[in-house]
Amino acid sequence: MGYIVFALKYRPQKFADVLGQEHIVTVLSNGVNNNRIPHAMLFSGPRGVGKTTTARILAKALNCDNPKQGEPCLECSSCKAIMEGRDMDVIEIDGASNRGIDEIRDLREKAKYATVKGRYKIFIIDEIHMLTKEAFNALLKILEEPPEHVIFIFATTEPFNVIPTILSRCQRFDFKRIPLKKTVEQLEYICSAENIDFDNDGLKLVAQLADGSLRDATSILDQLASTAEKVTYDNVNIMFGRLNDDFFGRFTEYIIERNPKGLIDSLNDVMARGYDLESFVSEFAFYIHKLFLIKNKIETEETEVMSETVKELAIKQTKEFSNESLMQITTELTETSSKLKFTNNKKLLVENELARIAYLIESKDINDIIAMIKNVNIGEIIKRKPLIEEKKEEKISQSTNIMEKLINLLKTKKFFISEALRMSKIRYTKDNYYELEVPRAYIKDLNQKTIDEEIKEQNLDIEIKIFYNNEEKYNKFKTNPFEDNPLINKLLKETDSQIIE
Ligand SMILES: Nc1ncnc2c1ncn2[C@@H]1O[C@H](COP(=O)(O)OP(=O)(O)O)[C@@H](O)[C@H]1O
Ligand SMILES: [Mg+2]
Ligand SMILES: [Zn+2]
Repeated sequence: MGYIVFALKYRPQKFADVLGQEHIVTVLSNGVNNNRIPHAMLFSGPRGVGKTTTARILAKALNCDNPKQGEPCLECSSCKAIMEGRDMDVIEIDGASNRGIDEIRDLREKAKYATVKGRYKIFIIDEIHMLTKEAFNALLKILEEPPEHVIFIFATTEPFNVIPTILSRCQRFDFKRIPLKKTVEQLEYICSAENIDFDNDGLKLVAQLADGSLRDATSILDQLASTAEKVTYDNVNIMFGRLNDDFFGRFTEYIIERNPKGLIDSLNDVMARGYDLESFVSEFAFYIHKLFLIKNKIETEETEVMSETVKELAIKQTKEFSNESLMQITTELTETSSKLKFTNNKKLLVENELARIAYLIESKDINDIIAMIKNVNIGEIIKRKPLIEEKKEEKISQSTNIMEKLINLLKTKKFFISEALRMSKIRYTKDNYYELEVPRAYIKDLNQKTIDEEIKEQNLDIEIKIFYNNEEKYNKFKTNPFEDNPLINKLLKETDSQIIE
């Protein structure tokens, strides 16, 4: 026997083997069992989810010599004939290629002829929405008074394009997309049966690309089996010429770093490798959307399908963005992707958009920023580094509070130390350890010795290490470090003094 494609080889032959459509096959097998099957049924749903398969199983079950609990026996001559597609009483019509009135007239003729006693004449019309208006009307005539022995099973991916007069005469069955998990299970099953090497991330990706269609999933696997040694995440990406989440993970790092050069360089790299800009942009939008889902702990097939390493990076990255930012980037990218259709200079559009995103996006919700500003008095923590991880940020505001305490303690008695502390910047902190960058102008007031003594005196459980900086902006303090300080100014004025050093 020659090679049979997986989609055919693994086509379910019994109701019980149809995956993911339990709600439908239960009703149908019960119907067969109780002899209550409607004359016209509409199987609607996306492609590759078992509509045709179920129609054939139903045909077998209805005409089986020996049905068991509504299931076909698969062994009698009728079951065999239907399986081999040579049964005269089961007629399959493809609505997409037999759209006309003649075909339906022909069907009407066939419908008239009685079958062997106890058997049904079963018409399976696929893609029913493709029929012409005349054909629909001819069909309607039969449906209005269907002969006792005739059963129609219509299938369509576009039920909204089936005229209402037909719809109203059918019992409708809505087939569902196959859940990712079920698809993976089926792929696993086929792999073991066919001795195909695979890893889990590879199968998950196949399932994701199949987007709920078991036929597509099975066909992809078929192709992979004939081209790749093993079904892996990378091999699937290679076969589809896809950029993977690893790539977008790295790409997103450039956004976090606000590094337009990194973005544009790797965009050029992508283009050099021949990727299409439109799908690049929409896939990137999708990655950012996944960050949103992860950040909000929304589990979907899309997040489920990410490999562990990718997910780890993604989780880290979500901390760098607010929800608003993520939504905004996704929207912008989606818009860009549709704008791309209408421009001659695709590269320019994308480059500019990426640069914009790198500059535009604030890392935090505005409320977070306000809360931070309220908490922070020391240095320029926020202004200088807007993309601070949440954890660090917590620590800084915490440490700021402890610092605040120290500063306040010293305010009355050791004003200059307090002031020097206030002007300093926390460079690094962990637990109760702080590294302070003190403006050099305060070298006399605040040095390692003074601060150590203070900590001891105040009986605080902290360690502070002092560093001096020479930054421009502190230089002015050399002349008058208290220029802006109303208290000092008042003091100077009232005592008619001046700062000498
Ligand atoms: N629900 C399902 N359970 C198991 N296999 C399925 C299912 N749906 C589709 N398949 C696989 O996909 C192939 C095509 O399915 P088919 O019934 O023709 O889909 P549809 O008519 O909905 O487009 C089948 O031969 C089978 O291999
Ligand atoms: Mg079909
Ligand atoms: Zn049978």
